[in-house]
Amino acid sequence: MSRGRGRRSERGDRTGPLRLARARPDAAFTFTFDGRTLPALSGQTVAAALWSSGVTSWRTTRDAGRPRGVFCGIGVCFDCLVAVDGRPNQRACLVPVESGAEVRTQEGTGHDG
Ligand code: FES
Repeated sequence: MSRGRGRRSERGDRTGPLRLARARPDAAFTFTFDGRTLPALSGQTVAAALWSSGVTSWRTTRDAGRPRGVFCGIGVCFDCLVAVDGRPNQRACLVPVESGAEVRTQEGTGHDG
């Protein structure tokens, strides 16, 4: 039997992305999203950390108030805008999440009241 083959990861998931990439991330840390404490791993973007916790939408469109999250995932479409530590209009798909970061849903332009 080859090394590591067939072993379960710490989470019991045989095919999870960490195992597939043979990643060995630093210890998990937490950040907050709209006041809710969520876990994150070093190197994750805000979007990846939100997705990992099942959050897929964190912004609404200005006119119709429709939900938005990640669309392109590479910093082009600006659908994923979020406020990080009081700074609006941060692209969640590009911004690395940091321990203790305060992430908030963005309403409108991010500068509205
Ligand atoms: S998802 Fe398109 S810019 Fe972030």
